[in-house]
Amino acid sequence: MDGSVLLLSSILSILYLFECSQIPVQEKMLLKALGLNGRPNPVNRAPVPKTLWDIFEKGIQQDNPCRMEGFQVPGNILRSYRDQGPLISSELQQGSLCLRKHLFFDLSAVEKQEQITLGQLEIKSRHNVYYGQEFHLRLFRILQMSLKGMRQHKKSQKLIVAQSFRLLHKSLYFNLTKMAQDWTNMEKNMGLVLEISTTSNSSSSQCEQIHSFIHISLLTVSLDPSSCKTSRVKRSSATPQLTPSNICKKRNLYIDFRDVGWHNWVIAPRGYMANYCHGECPYPLTELLKGTNHAVLQTLVHSTEPESTPLPSCAPIKLSPISMLYYDNNDNVVLRHYEDMVVDECGCK
Ligand SMILES: *[C@@H]1O[C@H](CO)[C@@H](O)[C@H](O)[C@H]1NC(C)=O
Ligand SMILES: *[C@@H]1O[C@H](CO)[C@@H](O)[C@H](O)[C@H]1NC(C)=O
Repeated sequence: MDGSVLLLSSILSILYLFECSQIPVQEKMLLKALGLNGRPNPVNRAPVPKTLWDIFEKGIQQDNPCRMEGFQVPGNILRSYRDQGPLISSELQQGSLCLRKHLFFDLSAVEKQEQITLGQLEIKSRHNVYYGQEFHLRLFRILQMSLKGMRQHKKSQKLIVAQSFRLLHKSLYFNLTKMAQDWTNMEKNMGLVLEISTTSNSSSSQCEQIHSFIHISLLTVSLDPSSCKTSRVKRSSATPQLTPSNICKKRNLYIDFRDVGWHNWVIAPRGYMANYCHGECPYPLTELLKGTNHAVLQTLVHSTEPESTPLPSCAPIKLSPISMLYYDNNDNVVLRHYEDMVVDECGCK
């Protein structure tokens, strides 16, 4: 079993049972396992996109935690990035041009081992508006930065999308998978330019105000293979639980994120049933304790040489994943499936 993932549920229990402030090293290790470089402190709490809530509420497909419900690609991490690009000066807004905006998404939180399997740009109307007016949209990828005041070179931008739309309460989606993969390399991430213009000649106030009506975000699905193993099918025993209380077994433990001081960045769940293993693994080791073959042998050796060989220890033998929805260190919203967060069964190992 991978040590780093087992760590997750056990450290979280330690954090909970003792005060987390006393063990900053353990917390750091745990946050690192969650792909964070410190405890997030969200300043700009972007609303949680509906897509993420829906997937979170559907839960994990227990048989395949390496897929996100609703996407046709492999992945166990969903990130929603807010647009950080500025509006490009209004002096350029002439003729039928309503909006010219730089789009920039900070993908620096994506880790090296993650593979981006989907990148999707969403442009949606904030309000339920319908003007019936037709707009033209053009998206350019910026290939080269130009200095302020310099004239844009034709070669520094590449047109990637040109289409018409009407302002509806409906999202426009663009497949930017290839680009999102490139953008994990900070040097290649110069963002996009979005231009929206009207087709009619009448410059109306809707056109000027369009930037306040649309909301732009980027969503990525990625796969972290290190936290995505194929689920193990364990033999299940229907043995009645007749174990005395000091014998190795699962103990209930509910971890409330408020108690470990994580409530201001973990959006959901508020807490979860993590459980832990505790108890003795005495000789003779019965089938009841679900000992591994190795543990059975170890108890046998222990019974003859108690000094040199310790008894096996009580440890998780079956764990299950949970989903977490949280703000990362860049205030982006992340939905991530984590393996081995809940102890389902304990045994002697
Ligand atoms: C998105 O683009 C990638 C390649 O850039 C392609 O492999 C993938 O099939 C596309 N996805 C959809 C849903 O069109
Ligand atoms: C836009 O309107 C002006 C007058 O207001 C007119 O001269 C011009 O031809 C119109 N352009 C188009 C494309 O309709």
